[in-house]
Order: sequence, then structure tokens, then C-alpha cells
Amino acid sequence: MEALPLKPLVDEPLWYKDAVIYELHVRAFADSNGDGIGDFPGLIGKLDYLQDLGVNTLWLLPFYPSPLRDDGYDIADYTSVNPSYGTLADFDRFLNEAHRRGLRVITELVINHTSDTHPWFTRARKAPPGSPERDFYVWTDDPTKFADARIIFKDFETSNWTWDPVAKAYFWHRFYSHQPDLNFDNPAVWQATFDALDFWLGLGVDGLRLDAVPYLYEREGTNCENLELTHTYLKALRRHVNERYPNRMLLAEANQQPAESASYFGDGDECHMNFHFPLMPRLFMAVGLEERYPIIDILRMTPPIPESCQWAIFLRNHDELTLEMVTDEDRDFMYRIYAQDTRARINLGIRRRLAPLLENDRAKIELLTGLLLSLPGTPVLYYGDEIGMGDNIYLGDRHGVRTPMQWSGDRNAGFSQGNPQRLYLPVIIDPTFHYEAVNVEVQQANPHSLLRWTKKLLRLRNRHHAFGRGTFEIRPADNTKILTFVRQYEQETLLVVANLSHYAQPVEIDLSPFEGLVPVEMLGETKFPVVTAKPYRLTFGGHGFYWFRLEQAESR
Ligand code: NOJ
Repeated sequence: MEALPLKPLVDEPLWYKDAVIYELHVRAFADSNGDGIGDFPGLIGKLDYLQDLGVNTLWLLPFYPSPLRDDGYDIADYTSVNPSYGTLADFDRFLNEAHRRGLRVITELVINHTSDTHPWFTRARKAPPGSPERDFYVWTDDPTKFADARIIFKDFETSNWTWDPVAKAYFWHRFYSHQPDLNFDNPAVWQATFDALDFWLGLGVDGLRLDAVPYLYEREGTNCENLELTHTYLKALRRHVNERYPNRMLLAEANQQPAESASYFGDGDECHMNFHFPLMPRLFMAVGLEERYPIIDILRMTPPIPESCQWAIFLRNHDELTLEMVTDEDRDFMYRIYAQDTRARINLGIRRRLAPLLENDRAKIELLTGLLLSLPGTPVLYYGDEIGMGDNIYLGDRHGVRTPMQWSGDRNAGFSQGNPQRLYLPVIIDPTFHYEAVNVEVQQANPHSLLRWTKKLLRLRNRHHAFGRGTFEIRPADNTKILTFVRQYEQETLLVVANLSHYAQPVEIDLSPFEGLVPVEMLGETKFPVVTAKPYRLTFGGHGFYWFRLEQAESR
């Protein structure tokens, strides 16, 4: 691919509001040395692709030394690079190359827990009870303690306590039993996590995703989530960032109900960004039910957030489509519609990528991508979803959605020159999603491919700040299968109208505040009839949607 013009980064404190984030795992993206594992030199070779795609921020999943029993979220060393992916010098080169192309970089700060192979844990289990070394982690002799904390990895763990024969005590873990939780009551743990943050921000990364952040503290008689102490820690972390690193960003991973989720913004003094977990399943419910209320309801339940803050919105990521925070009834509905095959279910969720979830229905994929790129917040795209990659529910855990990126129809989908048996995970050969048909090369060459369509939509989004920064207002419309909203920022007014039904639909929308303006459909630059005081009438094909710019009539 031809190199694109370089686009140096512009200094901008609120850059994350205009971001389009692309989530990827170094190991899954491109293998430069034929060992079957993606690496930083491979990723550097694909930066032109990412720049051309139209994203402007890369979120890298954990790439640190790790036994990889939780895909790198089990960290054994916070300040170096897993040798399978390259060296710190390779990372540095990657960061510079990304920045030269105008791409910002977000890495992971996983501070709730470490791997049980981390030297801190090795030291802790041998240290005398009560010593500062032992107290890096949370220990007890009584595994009935903190009984009100739920178990998150329900399919794998039966308790949040595990007996350690070396320490002769139980240690606390909210995730796998090989991931002991750090003890935030110990000031040395605060310092150690601040040091890890200093290391990566010092190298120049633009943002840090704070993994599993609601679970930092435990207290008896609570569910050990969202405790005030956790917010105190986050405020201190944010002050530390503000004092030392201008224009950086903290992104909370807090899978909670809307109000608790929003609490991670603080008063604009905790995280700058935060994943909108509650919205994600509702997008799929709305399409499944062919009704707009799941989306409208959740947005109404979402509290206003401080001016400098921003939601990160997403359809899919490297985890299961989590249904932890929906009602039992909604979860049953989601399983019935999206995971008839019980192998697709894991913990309280669905381990599928976007295209297979939607039965490879192009119109539905476009509809949901259109909403992802126009609802309030910064969109996060998961690698491979731009080409409609498939998954493999026969692999264990969440591996099925973490298979190698499909670049071409060549050996190993163009991901690696190595022995196919050596790949860290097999490529997708499902008949519908086979890499010979679903890959970047084929889709770059076809002007009608999902990839080319996604690029077009990203280009449109990137031209309009209203998507990232604008106000959001639902407009009344008589047909409940149609979602209608307006985004406004400075001189820009955008109207988004989406048909959640797979049948053709008419709608009448109250657009009276915009009387006299002309809707211009943005993909085709087509002018629609002028808005009047009367209900505005539109018709749609199944799953159709429009993005309009509302313009002054005289500019016609
Ligand atoms: C959240 C991450 O997204 C997930 O992949 C991981 O398994 C858990 N944290 C535990 O580390």
C-alpha cells in the first residue's frame, strides 16, 4: 500500500472527543518474523492501513510479559514488553511511527490484579503476615469474608478466594484464581501503580485504559464495587496525571449500571473517558426487537456528564458481549436471539464477533455501525469488524474473537509466513467467513465491500465535529421502529434517522425547530425537501438509515 501523507499530531486537550478508536491486539495483527505471533514490527507495517481506514487512535491490548492465561491481563512485569511481541525499542518505534501519522496510542494499565507469577506475588506469599511485602495483596484465613461480592468469571471460578499453600492463607481475586488482586489499602501499592503509569506516560503514550477499575477496594457488608475509596484513589491518580502530563487521557473500564458507570468521571476530576457498557447490549436489543425504546431508555437513564468528559461507545470488543448488567428477562431475550447455540455463551455473555452475531446481514452491520458512529460518544471499533470477520466458538474462553487479522487469501490469511500449525490461534475457515473471501485485500479491491463502506462512513464522521462533541436530542417520530436524533455543535446540525426494522417503514418526524432548513443526505450529497412546520415524512428500506446535514436553504 502507498504511504499516505504524514499528519503530525496537533496539541489538543480534548482530542479524545474527536477520536475514533481502533482496538487491537499486537499478537493478532501482523507477524513479521514467522513465529506465528503478531509483533510490533508487524504492526508498524500496518500503520498505513490504519491511517487510511480513517481511525485516529489505537488502543493496544496488554502486551507486557505474562503467562498469557488471561491473554495478557495477567501481568508479570508492568514496565517491559513481552519478548514474543518485540522489545521496548520496538514499542518506542511503533509509538513514533503512529504519532507521525497522526495516530494516538492508548495502552492498558491493569492495576486491579497481577499475574500470580509477578515478583510482587512471589515475594508476598513468602513474606511474614502483616509485612508490607505480604500486604501487596489481600489475604485472609476466613474465606467467608466479603461474601456479598459476586463472582465475575462464573464459568471458571467458584469463589473469590483461593488457598495459597505457600502463604498458608487465602488470597482475594475478582477474576481468575491466578490473578491475585492488589491491596489498595497499602500505600506502597498506590506508589507501584503510579510508577507503572509514569513509565508509559513518560514514554509518550496518549491514554491509559484502566482495567476493571470498580473493584480496587473491598469492604465487608458491601458488594466490593464502586466504593468511595476507589474514587479517592482515582482522583489522586488524575491529579498526578494533570500535574505531569498535559493532554493525556484516562479511560475507565467500569461495567456497571448507568449512574455507577458515570461516577467514574467524578466531577471531571477522575477519568476523562469511560466505556458506555449499558448502551452496548441495548443496541443489539433494539435491532432484535425492531423497536427504539431499549436505546432511548438507556440514554435517558444516563446522567449528564462533566463538560470535559466523554463516553467511549462500542459494539464489540475482545471480551464476550456482556449481559451482566441487564435483567434476567433481557438476558434470556438476548440469548434467544443472538446465542441459540449454547457454545456461543460464556460467563454471563455471548462470545461472538459483530458479523456472526448479526448472521452476516450486511444491512444490520451497516445500521449498527452507523449508530456507533453517530450516537453521543467516541466510537471504538474492534479489529477485523471493519471487514466483517468471523469467529470460532469452538476455541476456549474468549479466544474465538481473538484470531489472526485476515489480510489476504494467502497462507495464514497473510497474517504470518510461519508454519500454520505454529499460529497462536488458528485463522477462521468457517465456510461463511473463510479468510480466502473475508480479507482486507479482497475488500480493498471491491468498491462495494464492507471495508470500503466503513472507510466512507469514517471519512464523513471525521469531517463533522458534531458527532464527537455535539449535543444530542431525540426528535419525536410517530413510528417506534424509527430512531431519530439531532446532533448540534457550533454551526453544525446533523440529523440521524435509523430504521430498526428489517421491513420497509414510513415515518413522520417533528422537525419544526428546523423549519426552513434543507436536509442533505451525507453519503450521496442529495438534497431532500425543505423542512416545514408540518411533520417531516421519510420512508426507508429494511434497516435503512440516513445521516443528514441540515443546511440553510440559500446555500442550495
Ligand atoms: C477486563 C478485560 O477486558 C478482560 O479481558 C479480562 O479478562 C478481565 N479484565 C480480567 O483481567
